[in-house]
Amino acid sequence: MRGFWADELDQRRQGGLYRFRKAVSPHPSDPARVLWRGRPLVNFASNDYLGLARDPRLAAAAARAQRREGTGAGASPLVSGWLPVHRSLERRLAEHAGTDASLVFPSGFAANLAAVTALAGPGDLVLSDALNHASLVDGCRLSRARVEVFAHADPSSADGILSRCRGSFRRAWIITDSVFSMDGDEAPLADLAVVARRHDAGLIVDEAHATGVLGPRGRGLSASLPMDAVPAGLVRVGTLSKALGAQGGFVAADRGTIRWIVNQGRSYMFSTALAPGSAAAARAALRLSHAEPWRRERVLALAGRLRDFMAGLGRPAPGDSAIVPVIAGPERLAMAWAGHCLDRGWLVPAIRHPSVPRGGARLRVSLSADHSDDDLAGLMEALATLPETEA
Ligand SMILES: Cc1ncc(COP(=O)(O)O)c(C=O)c1O
Repeated sequence: MRGFWADELDQRRQGGLYRFRKAVSPHPSDPARVLWRGRPLVNFASNDYLGLARDPRLAAAAARAQRREGTGAGASPLVSGWLPVHRSLERRLAEHAGTDASLVFPSGFAANLAAVTALAGPGDLVLSDALNHASLVDGCRLSRARVEVFAHADPSSADGILSRCRGSFRRAWIITDSVFSMDGDEAPLADLAVVARRHDAGLIVDEAHATGVLGPRGRGLSASLPMDAVPAGLVRVGTLSKALGAQGGFVAADRGTIRWIVNQGRSYMFSTALAPGSAAAARAALRLSHAEPWRRERVLALAGRLRDFMAGLGRPAPGDSAIVPVIAGPERLAMAWAGHCLDRGWLVPAIRHPSVPRGGARLRVSLSADHSDDDLAGLMEALATLPETEA
């Protein structure tokens, strides 16, 4: 059958926008590598920033929790799925984020959906950074609040919108990633907090790429804000699926806000609770992220070296995170660059629309504490010889 999608997919193929999955397998002995078509590739595509996803201590913690509490939670947390492992993980995450309470979800995507849709609704105003993650964008749309997009990382743009519109709305929220997933740069959180305060707005910060990596002791960039920085509400969202090497997401906030999301967040209420094994693995990872600060230091040092190198090649990358973009522009050029790296044994994804704007395609290098100096040197060599054209 030639489905209705066939022509559209052909067009995407021609435009370098077709999406497909690579059938990779874990390397048997090296967590920094995967096997693809029988070949080992150094993995610069994973968000396992601290190198914890294949740590045997996480696997052992997951196995113990599965034996004790089951492989699945069996029901929504509101029915019978809120188990001891969730409660203890929620306490640890609240301590980690420096908040009264937290709430654990099956994914970071679900956590963002619940936070935004529970806190904003018809009659409210949400201001969303132009480069926010898809889960925040979808949360804004589903909330049925009025959505205004402010210029990327630009507090004066948010301030201008709030000055014009704030009076017509009941509540307002500024919503931003703390580290932008495809650019690796950071939101100006202190300045956004000042704008939020000035206009009696709340601030929702998605710490997906900062959790465990950036901020004091890896507690996220919003952990540097004073507790009373945003009187109308400061809500932190994070994921357990990237630096913490497990699976799931969380919201951390004051107790009242958490109670409200339990009652109003549909992706919390109507979804089975996080699998106990994932919760236990995340709890172990959180402990290790504190006990082994060298992981954070290592990944940030590698990213810093790559940024310096790329700046020397005339391709500077913004920010201080573990994500280093190499901007190509045309989609097909980014695909050619990914192929160039792949041929040399480096797995680096080409990121294209709709993850980034059309014509803003790029390689996205994710560093990990597992990468060796030689891995980085090899990647640099490949990046220094990127082809000028897609042919
Ligand atoms: C900024 C950001 N927020 C949220 C998410 C979703 O997190 P998860 O993968 O745990 O669903 C991602 C994942 O790609 C992300 O990059």
